[in-house]
Amino acid sequence: MSASTVQSPHRSSLDVDGFREHFPGLAGRVHGRPLVYLDNAATSQRAKEAIEAVRLMQTELCANVHRGVHERSAQASARFEAVREIVRRFIGAASEREIIFTRGTTEAINLVAQSWGRRNVGPGDEVLITHLEHHSNIVPWQMLTEEKGATLRVLPVDDRGQLRMDLLDAHLSRATKLVAVNHVSNALGTINPVDELVRAAHAVGARVLVDGAQAASHLPVDVSAMDADFYAFSAHKVYGPTGVGALYGKLDLLESMPPWQGGGDMIKEVRLDRSVYNDVPYRFEAGTPNIEGVVGMGAALELVESFGIESLGAHEDTLLALATSAITEIPGVRIVGTAERKASVLSFLIDGFHAHDLGTLLDGQGVAIRTGHHCAMPVMERFGTTATARASFAAYNTMSEVETFIRATHKALAMLR
Ligand code: ALA
Repeated sequence: MSASTVQSPHRSSLDVDGFREHFPGLAGRVHGRPLVYLDNAATSQRAKEAIEAVRLMQTELCANVHRGVHERSAQASARFEAVREIVRRFIGAASEREIIFTRGTTEAINLVAQSWGRRNVGPGDEVLITHLEHHSNIVPWQMLTEEKGATLRVLPVDDRGQLRMDLLDAHLSRATKLVAVNHVSNALGTINPVDELVRAAHAVGARVLVDGAQAASHLPVDVSAMDADFYAFSAHKVYGPTGVGALYGKLDLLESMPPWQGGGDMIKEVRLDRSVYNDVPYRFEAGTPNIEGVVGMGAALELVESFGIESLGAHEDTLLALATSAITEIPGVRIVGTAERKASVLSFLIDGFHAHDLGTLLDGQGVAIRTGHHCAMPVMERFGTTATARASFAAYNTMSEVETFIRATHKALAMLR
């Protein structure tokens, strides 16, 4: 099948042009060509609603939150706090008090490791991660288990990049205190069976943290149905600003956890000899927060809600299927990550060519993909490489952009050969 004749296996009802209009960043040109932005797993473009919300909080509503009796501070606080309800709804949490604003997924995972982990993981205990994790869901657990004399165990993946669920029971025991797993792999796109992992972990008394950084913009997330103990995501991969995200935690767990950073807002009372900590979630939000970022995140999530995450995800599935079938036709291509259930990520290698060379030649044609280890070196090693080329799709991408990407890849290979 040539690039110009790629056929869609299924159709979504998304008004792609209508969705696209919300993203001013897509109008740019690169090297004199219209930008084809296929690096959405690294960061998505920002929605104009998020940009406007940030602007508003930096101008007409610029004030600190939770601190002033004056009108502007009250208005800023109201906008800021309203986002807890938006996030609660977006991920299906039971209470706004279960939503902690963070700098992003990485900080959320570190919060759990430093607060819950240091109190609940001890010598001889185990933390289970998977071979698919991003460095952000590996290193905090290495740090914790090293400090505590605990053991970090790793659930392997098969040759398609799927978790070896047949080995799960052998990796879980009463020693397992936590299972930390991504919902969707950033490097391969695998959608992990998190419900099943949660059930199995809970059966041995372990808690589960789900890294939702790559899932939140592609799949409906329902933390209550999933029964996850913790769930983390970043705004900048869901059309919002950088430097902000959220951690969900079950209320009873959060209430049992000590603060991990000291400062303003996380206290009720400070004396020179002792302090009384604030209630959840403020206990975990020391210092002036990223006010404009939080409000921008709320605006981005509301945009996603207005189009419907199922509809956005279905369109991305169409793009992924198109790109996968067209790239497979190129001689020497190896797709890294061929799981049965995937979201939005096409990671691949072409025999005899370095991913970086391909990425550079695509960039010259206006096509932005990521090349490298994708902050997931262990999974690269598992598949015998140090780098892949990765095209990752968002709901504003079009079939025509996929065709441009495939044509540009053919052209790059002709230049390299
Ligand atoms: N974790 C991001 C990625 O996958 C940066 O590219």
